Amino acid sequence: MESPVGAQTIFNGRTMDYFGGSGYLGLQSHPAVLQAAQKALQRYGFSTATSRGGFGEHPIYAELEIAACAYFGAEKVIYYASGYLGSAILTQATNNRFEHIFIDSSAHFSLWDAAHATNLPITPFHHLRAQSLAEHLNRDLRSQERPLVLSDGVFPVSGEIAPLPDYLDLVKPRKGLVYLDDAHAVGVLGKNGRGTPEYYEIEDQSCYTSATLAKALGGFGGVIWGTAKWVDYIDQASRICAGASPPPLVVTAASAIALEVAHTSPELRQRLRERVKQARNGIRALGWELADTPVPILCLASRPGVSLERIKKNLFEQDIAIELVRSYTSTPAGGALRIAIFSTHTSEQIDRLIEAIGNSS
Ligand SMILES: Cc1ncc(COP(=O)(O)O)c(C=O)c1O
Repeated sequence: MESPVGAQTIFNGRTMDYFGGSGYLGLQSHPAVLQAAQKALQRYGFSTATSRGGFGEHPIYAELEIAACAYFGAEKVIYYASGYLGSAILTQATNNRFEHIFIDSSAHFSLWDAAHATNLPITPFHHLRAQSLAEHLNRDLRSQERPLVLSDGVFPVSGEIAPLPDYLDLVKPRKGLVYLDDAHAVGVLGKNGRGTPEYYEIEDQSCYTSATLAKALGGFGGVIWGTAKWVDYIDQASRICAGASPPPLVVTAASAIALEVAHTSPELRQRLRERVKQARNGIRALGWELADTPVPILCLASRPGVSLERIKKNLFEQDIAIELVRSYTSTPAGGALRIAIFSTHTSEQIDRLIEAIGNSS
Protein backbone atom coordinates (compact mmCIF):
# COMPACT_ATOMS: atom_id res chain seq x y z
CA MET A 1 0.00 0.00 0.00
CA GLU A 2 1.31 3.43 -0.91
CA SER A 3 -1.54 5.85 -0.24
CA PRO A 4 -4.20 6.60 2.35
CA VAL A 5 -6.24 3.41 2.69
CA GLY A 6 -9.82 3.52 1.49
CA ALA A 7 -12.26 2.46 -1.23
CA GLN A 8 -9.49 3.23 -3.71
CA THR A 9 -5.94 2.57 -2.60
CA ILE A 10 -2.63 2.67 -4.45
CA PHE A 11 -0.77 -0.66 -4.50
CA ASN A 12 2.73 -0.61 -6.04
CA GLY A 13 1.85 2.42 -8.15
CA ARG A 14 -1.55 1.08 -9.28
CA THR A 15 -4.85 2.57 -8.13
CA MET A 16 -7.03 -0.35 -7.04
CA ASP A 17 -10.62 -0.75 -5.91
CA TYR A 18 -9.84 -2.02 -2.42
CA PHE A 19 -12.07 -4.57 -0.67
CA GLY A 20 -9.70 -5.75 2.10
CA GLY A 21 -9.09 -5.05 5.77
CA SER A 22 -11.73 -3.57 8.02
CA GLY A 23 -12.18 0.19 7.58
CA TYR A 24 -15.89 -0.41 7.05
CA LEU A 25 -16.96 3.22 7.66
CA GLY A 26 -13.92 4.65 5.87
CA LEU A 27 -13.05 6.90 8.80
CA GLN A 28 -9.31 6.18 8.96
CA SER A 29 -8.72 8.80 6.28
CA HIS A 30 -11.56 11.18 7.19
CA PRO A 31 -10.31 14.83 7.07
CA ALA A 32 -11.53 15.60 10.61
CA VAL A 33 -9.67 12.57 11.99
CA LEU A 34 -6.43 13.53 10.26
CA GLN A 35 -6.76 17.13 11.41
CA ALA A 36 -7.29 16.03 15.04
CA ALA A 37 -4.10 13.96 14.90
CA GLN A 38 -2.11 16.87 13.43
CA LYS A 39 -3.40 19.36 16.01
CA ALA A 40 -2.67 17.02 18.92
CA LEU A 41 0.83 16.35 17.65
CA GLN A 42 1.63 20.04 17.31
CA ARG A 43 0.15 21.02 20.65
CA TYR A 44 1.09 18.09 22.91
CA GLY A 45 3.70 15.93 21.15
CA PHE A 46 3.36 12.20 20.62
CA SER A 47 2.70 10.59 23.99
CA THR A 48 2.83 11.06 27.78
CA ALA A 49 5.51 8.37 28.21
CA THR A 50 3.98 7.26 31.48
CA SER A 51 0.90 5.39 32.60
CA ARG A 52 -2.34 7.17 33.47
CA GLY A 53 -2.04 5.93 37.05
CA GLY A 54 1.12 8.04 37.45
CA PHE A 55 1.24 11.61 36.09
CA GLY A 56 -0.05 10.47 32.68
CA GLU A 57 -3.66 11.64 32.99
CA HIS A 58 -4.37 14.05 30.14
CA PRO A 59 -7.44 15.95 28.85
CA ILE A 60 -7.19 14.09 25.53
CA TYR A 61 -8.07 10.83 27.29
CA ALA A 62 -11.12 12.52 28.80
CA GLU A 63 -12.12 13.71 25.30
CA LEU A 64 -11.88 10.15 24.00
CA GLU A 65 -13.89 8.80 26.89
CA ILE A 66 -16.63 11.42 26.51
CA ALA A 67 -16.90 10.62 22.79
CA ALA A 68 -16.95 6.87 23.48
CA CYS A 69 -19.62 7.21 26.21
CA ALA A 70 -21.80 9.18 23.79
CA TYR A 71 -21.24 6.60 21.07
CA PHE A 72 -22.00 3.58 23.24
CA GLY A 73 -24.66 5.28 25.39
CA ALA A 74 -22.59 4.25 28.41
CA GLU A 75 -21.74 5.85 31.75
CA LYS A 76 -18.07 5.03 31.53
CA VAL A 77 -15.44 3.61 29.18
CA ILE A 78 -11.93 2.19 29.60
CA TYR A 79 -9.58 2.86 26.71
CA TYR A 80 -6.45 0.71 26.33
CA ALA A 81 -3.68 0.07 23.85
CA SER A 82 -5.10 -2.71 21.69
CA GLY A 83 -8.45 -4.36 21.05
CA TYR A 84 -6.63 -7.68 21.31
CA LEU A 85 -6.28 -7.15 25.05
CA GLY A 86 -9.99 -6.62 25.71
CA SER A 87 -10.92 -10.23 26.38
CA ALA A 88 -7.91 -10.71 28.65
CA ILE A 89 -8.81 -7.56 30.60
CA LEU A 90 -12.35 -8.90 31.11
CA THR A 91 -11.34 -12.43 32.09
CA GLN A 92 -8.53 -11.25 34.35
CA ALA A 93 -10.72 -8.77 36.20
CA THR A 94 -13.65 -11.14 36.70
CA ASN A 95 -11.73 -14.35 37.32
CA ASN A 96 -13.69 -15.03 40.52
CA ARG A 97 -17.08 -15.08 38.73
CA PHE A 98 -16.74 -18.36 36.77
CA GLU A 99 -15.09 -21.75 37.12
CA HIS A 100 -15.11 -23.18 33.59
CA ILE A 101 -14.63 -21.56 30.17
CA PHE A 102 -16.54 -22.66 27.06
CA ILE A 103 -15.21 -21.19 23.84
CA ASP A 104 -16.39 -21.24 20.22
CA SER A 105 -13.91 -23.52 18.43
CA SER A 106 -13.28 -20.82 15.79
CA ALA A 107 -12.91 -17.94 18.25
CA HIS A 108 -10.32 -15.23 17.59
CA PHE A 109 -6.75 -15.68 18.89
CA SER A 110 -7.37 -12.93 21.47
CA LEU A 111 -10.14 -14.99 23.12
CA TRP A 112 -8.03 -18.15 23.23
CA ASP A 113 -5.12 -16.25 24.78
CA ALA A 114 -7.45 -14.70 27.36
CA ALA A 115 -8.88 -18.13 28.20
CA HIS A 116 -5.45 -19.77 28.58
CA ALA A 117 -4.23 -17.00 30.86
CA THR A 118 -6.94 -17.82 33.43
CA ASN A 119 -5.64 -21.36 34.15
CA LEU A 120 -9.27 -22.54 34.29
CA PRO A 121 -10.57 -25.59 32.39
CA ILE A 122 -11.36 -24.70 28.76
CA THR A 123 -13.89 -26.61 26.66
CA PRO A 124 -14.33 -25.70 22.99
CA PHE A 125 -17.82 -26.09 21.52
CA HIS A 126 -18.76 -26.51 17.87
CA HIS A 127 -18.51 -23.22 15.97
CA LEU A 128 -21.75 -21.16 16.39
CA ARG A 129 -23.77 -24.15 17.64
CA ALA A 130 -25.78 -23.47 20.78
CA GLN A 131 -26.75 -27.14 20.79
CA SER A 132 -23.10 -28.16 21.13
CA LEU A 133 -22.63 -25.62 23.93
CA ALA A 134 -25.70 -27.06 25.70
CA GLU A 135 -24.28 -30.59 25.47
CA HIS A 136 -20.92 -29.52 26.88
CA LEU A 137 -22.54 -27.52 29.69
CA ASN A 138 -24.55 -30.59 30.70
CA ARG A 139 -21.59 -32.91 30.44
CA ASP A 140 -18.56 -30.90 31.57
CA LEU A 141 -19.82 -28.38 34.13
CA ARG A 142 -19.90 -29.70 37.68
CA SER A 143 -22.68 -28.68 40.05
CA GLN A 144 -22.28 -25.15 41.45
CA GLU A 145 -19.73 -24.28 38.76
CA ARG A 146 -20.47 -21.13 36.75
CA PRO A 147 -19.65 -21.04 33.02
CA LEU A 148 -18.05 -18.27 31.00
CA VAL A 149 -18.80 -18.43 27.26
CA LEU A 150 -16.32 -16.73 24.92
CA SER A 151 -17.03 -15.91 21.29
CA ASP A 152 -16.51 -13.32 18.61
CA GLY A 153 -19.65 -11.24 18.01
CA VAL A 154 -18.96 -11.18 14.25
CA PHE A 155 -16.31 -13.56 12.95
CA PRO A 156 -13.49 -11.82 11.07
CA VAL A 157 -13.32 -13.99 7.95
CA SER A 158 -16.61 -15.92 7.82
CA GLY A 159 -18.65 -12.80 8.71
CA GLU A 160 -21.06 -14.97 10.74
CA ILE A 161 -22.88 -13.51 13.76
CA ALA A 162 -22.80 -15.39 17.10
CA PRO A 163 -26.24 -16.60 18.31
CA LEU A 164 -26.04 -14.50 21.46
CA PRO A 165 -29.68 -14.96 22.63
CA ASP A 166 -29.24 -18.76 22.58
CA TYR A 167 -25.98 -18.57 24.53
CA LEU A 168 -27.59 -16.34 27.15
CA ASP A 169 -30.55 -18.70 27.53
CA LEU A 170 -28.12 -21.50 28.32
CA VAL A 171 -25.78 -19.59 30.57
CA LYS A 172 -28.07 -17.47 32.73
CA PRO A 173 -29.79 -20.31 34.64
CA ARG A 174 -26.26 -21.45 35.58
CA LYS A 175 -25.32 -17.93 36.80
CA GLY A 176 -22.75 -17.70 34.02
CA LEU A 177 -21.55 -14.94 31.69
CA VAL A 178 -20.98 -14.38 27.98
CA TYR A 179 -18.06 -12.24 26.76
CA LEU A 180 -17.98 -11.20 23.12
CA ASP A 181 -15.00 -9.85 21.23
CA ASP A 182 -17.04 -7.45 19.11
CA ALA A 183 -14.15 -6.12 17.01
CA HIS A 184 -15.96 -6.50 13.67
CA ALA A 185 -19.48 -5.65 14.88
CA VAL A 186 -18.94 -2.30 16.58
CA GLY A 187 -19.48 0.55 14.14
CA VAL A 188 -21.62 -1.69 11.97
CA LEU A 189 -24.30 -3.76 13.74
CA GLY A 190 -27.27 -2.35 15.63
CA LYS A 191 -29.23 0.84 15.21
CA ASN A 192 -26.41 2.95 16.71
CA GLY A 193 -23.55 0.72 15.59
CA ARG A 194 -22.96 -0.54 19.14
CA GLY A 195 -22.42 -4.11 18.06
CA THR A 196 -23.86 -7.58 18.46
CA PRO A 197 -25.97 -7.09 21.62
CA GLU A 198 -27.64 -4.05 20.02
CA TYR A 199 -28.23 -6.05 16.82
CA TYR A 200 -30.25 -8.53 18.91
CA GLU A 201 -31.70 -5.68 21.04
CA ILE A 202 -30.24 -7.27 24.16
CA GLU A 203 -29.18 -5.38 27.26
CA ASP A 204 -28.24 -7.96 29.82
CA GLN A 205 -25.96 -7.91 32.85
CA SER A 206 -24.78 -11.42 31.90
CA CYS A 207 -23.28 -10.25 28.60
CA TYR A 208 -20.23 -8.02 28.19
CA THR A 209 -18.34 -6.97 25.12
CA SER A 210 -15.00 -5.47 24.29
CA ALA A 211 -14.14 -3.87 20.97
CA THR A 212 -11.45 -2.14 18.98
CA LEU A 213 -11.54 1.36 17.52
CA ALA A 214 -9.11 0.18 14.82
CA LYS A 215 -11.67 -1.33 12.44
CA ALA A 216 -15.01 0.25 11.44
CA LEU A 217 -14.37 3.26 13.65
CA GLY A 218 -11.13 4.18 11.90
CA GLY A 219 -9.14 4.97 15.05
CA PHE A 220 -6.94 2.81 17.25
CA GLY A 221 -7.05 1.13 20.66
CA GLY A 222 -9.50 -1.03 22.59
CA VAL A 223 -12.60 -0.12 24.59
CA ILE A 224 -14.81 -1.68 27.24
CA TRP A 225 -17.91 0.23 28.32
CA GLY A 226 -20.75 -0.02 30.81
CA THR A 227 -21.92 1.41 34.11
CA ALA A 228 -19.42 3.48 36.08
CA LYS A 229 -19.37 0.82 38.81
CA TRP A 230 -18.59 -2.02 36.40
CA VAL A 231 -15.95 -0.08 34.45
CA ASP A 232 -14.20 1.14 37.62
CA TYR A 233 -14.14 -2.40 38.89
CA ILE A 234 -12.64 -3.77 35.64
CA ASP A 235 -10.10 -0.96 35.51
CA GLN A 236 -8.87 -1.59 39.02
CA ALA A 237 -8.98 -5.37 38.94
CA SER A 238 -7.10 -5.83 35.65
CA ARG A 239 -3.32 -5.77 35.78
CA ILE A 240 -3.26 -4.93 32.05
CA CYS A 241 -4.92 -1.52 32.50
CA ALA A 242 -2.50 -0.58 35.29
CA GLY A 243 0.60 -2.05 33.68
CA ALA A 244 0.40 -1.01 30.01
CA SER A 245 0.96 2.43 28.49
CA PRO A 246 -2.22 4.03 27.16
CA PRO A 247 -2.48 4.73 23.42
CA PRO A 248 -0.38 7.79 22.40
CA LEU A 249 -2.02 11.22 22.55
CA VAL A 250 -2.03 11.66 18.77
CA VAL A 251 -3.82 8.34 18.30
CA THR A 252 -6.27 9.14 21.07
CA ALA A 253 -7.18 12.54 19.63
CA ALA A 254 -7.79 11.01 16.18
CA SER A 255 -9.84 8.16 17.67
CA ALA A 256 -12.01 10.58 19.67
CA ILE A 257 -12.95 12.44 16.51
CA ALA A 258 -13.54 9.19 14.61
CA LEU A 259 -16.00 8.17 17.34
CA GLU A 260 -17.69 11.55 17.18
CA VAL A 261 -18.06 11.38 13.39
CA ALA A 262 -19.44 7.83 13.60
CA HIS A 263 -21.87 8.90 16.33
CA THR A 264 -23.18 11.96 14.52
CA SER A 265 -23.29 10.45 11.02
CA PRO A 266 -25.83 7.60 11.00
CA GLU A 267 -25.91 8.00 7.22
CA LEU A 268 -22.50 6.30 7.09
CA ARG A 269 -23.99 3.11 8.58
CA GLN A 270 -27.04 3.44 6.37
CA ARG A 271 -24.92 3.73 3.23
CA LEU A 272 -22.81 0.79 4.39
CA ARG A 273 -25.97 -1.33 4.78
CA GLU A 274 -27.09 -0.41 1.27
CA ARG A 275 -23.70 -1.29 -0.24
CA VAL A 276 -23.58 -4.58 1.69
CA LYS A 277 -27.05 -5.50 0.46
CA GLN A 278 -26.11 -4.68 -3.14
CA ALA A 279 -22.93 -6.76 -2.91
CA ARG A 280 -24.55 -9.73 -1.15
CA ASN A 281 -27.50 -9.83 -3.56
CA GLY A 282 -25.29 -9.49 -6.63
CA ILE A 283 -22.79 -12.15 -5.58
CA ARG A 284 -25.54 -14.51 -4.40
CA ALA A 285 -27.15 -14.21 -7.85
CA LEU A 286 -23.88 -15.60 -9.28
CA GLY A 287 -24.45 -18.82 -7.31
CA TRP A 288 -22.37 -18.16 -4.17
CA GLU A 289 -23.96 -19.01 -0.84
CA LEU A 290 -24.21 -15.85 1.29
CA ALA A 291 -26.43 -15.17 4.29
CA ASP A 292 -28.68 -12.12 4.22
CA THR A 293 -27.09 -10.04 7.01
CA PRO A 294 -25.79 -6.47 7.34
CA VAL A 295 -22.24 -7.70 8.04
CA PRO A 296 -19.77 -6.03 5.63
CA ILE A 297 -17.57 -9.15 5.47
CA LEU A 298 -18.53 -11.39 2.54
CA CYS A 299 -16.99 -14.83 2.67
CA LEU A 300 -16.80 -16.82 -0.57
CA ALA A 301 -15.91 -20.27 0.65
CA SER A 302 -14.01 -22.80 -1.41
CA ARG A 303 -16.18 -25.11 -3.52
CA PRO A 304 -15.47 -27.90 -5.98
CA GLY A 305 -14.39 -26.84 -9.47
CA VAL A 306 -13.74 -23.22 -8.50
CA SER A 307 -10.22 -21.86 -8.03
CA LEU A 308 -10.21 -19.07 -5.43
CA GLU A 309 -6.61 -18.30 -6.36
CA ARG A 310 -7.62 -17.71 -9.99
CA ILE A 311 -10.53 -15.43 -9.04
CA LYS A 312 -8.30 -13.35 -6.77
CA LYS A 313 -5.65 -13.08 -9.51
CA ASN A 314 -8.18 -12.22 -12.24
CA LEU A 315 -9.65 -9.49 -10.07
CA PHE A 316 -6.22 -8.12 -9.23
CA GLU A 317 -5.45 -7.85 -12.95
CA GLN A 318 -8.60 -5.72 -13.25
CA ASP A 319 -7.37 -3.47 -10.40
CA ILE A 320 -9.68 -4.98 -7.79
CA ALA A 321 -8.06 -6.16 -4.52
CA ILE A 322 -9.77 -8.87 -2.45
CA GLU A 323 -8.13 -11.21 0.04
CA LEU A 324 -7.65 -14.95 -0.21
CA VAL A 325 -7.47 -16.21 3.38
CA ARG A 326 -6.26 -19.67 4.29
CA SER A 327 -5.59 -19.76 8.01
CA TYR A 328 -6.97 -16.83 10.05
CA THR A 329 -9.54 -17.69 12.73
CA SER A 330 -13.01 -18.55 11.33
CA THR A 331 -11.71 -19.32 7.81
CA PRO A 332 -13.80 -22.16 6.33
CA ALA A 333 -11.93 -25.38 5.47
CA GLY A 334 -10.16 -25.01 2.12
CA GLY A 335 -9.85 -21.23 2.44
CA ALA A 336 -12.09 -18.38 1.35
CA LEU A 337 -12.16 -15.12 -0.53
CA ARG A 338 -12.85 -12.37 1.99
CA ILE A 339 -14.48 -9.23 0.63
CA ALA A 340 -14.83 -6.20 2.88
CA ILE A 341 -17.42 -3.58 1.94
CA PHE A 342 -16.98 0.06 2.99
CA SER A 343 -19.56 2.84 3.19
CA THR A 344 -17.19 4.79 0.93
CA HIS A 345 -17.41 2.29 -1.94
CA THR A 346 -19.54 3.63 -4.77
CA SER A 347 -22.42 1.64 -6.18
CA GLU A 348 -20.43 1.45 -9.46
CA GLN A 349 -17.45 -0.09 -7.66
CA ILE A 350 -19.72 -2.80 -6.21
CA ASP A 351 -21.25 -3.47 -9.67
CA ARG A 352 -17.75 -3.78 -11.14
CA LEU A 353 -16.76 -6.19 -8.34
CA ILE A 354 -19.82 -8.39 -8.96
CA GLU A 355 -19.24 -8.42 -12.70
CA ALA A 356 -15.54 -9.29 -12.28
CA ILE A 357 -16.37 -12.19 -9.93
CA GLY A 358 -19.04 -13.40 -12.36
CA ASN A 359 -16.53 -13.36 -15.25
CA SER A 360 -13.89 -15.18 -13.17
CA SER A 361 -15.92 -17.93 -11.45
C1 LIG B 1 -11.87 -10.54 16.15
C2 LIG B 1 -10.70 -9.64 16.45
N1 LIG B 1 -10.47 -9.25 17.72
C3 LIG B 1 -9.45 -8.45 18.04
C4 LIG B 1 -8.59 -7.98 17.08
C5 LIG B 1 -7.45 -7.11 17.51
O1 LIG B 1 -7.80 -5.77 17.65
P1 LIG B 1 -6.64 -4.67 17.66
O2 LIG B 1 -6.09 -4.65 16.28
O3 LIG B 1 -7.27 -3.39 18.09
O4 LIG B 1 -5.62 -5.14 18.66
C6 LIG B 1 -8.76 -8.38 15.74
C7 LIG B 1 -7.88 -7.92 14.63
O5 LIG B 1 -7.15 -7.01 14.62
C8 LIG B 1 -9.84 -9.22 15.41
O6 LIG B 1 -10.06 -9.62 14.14
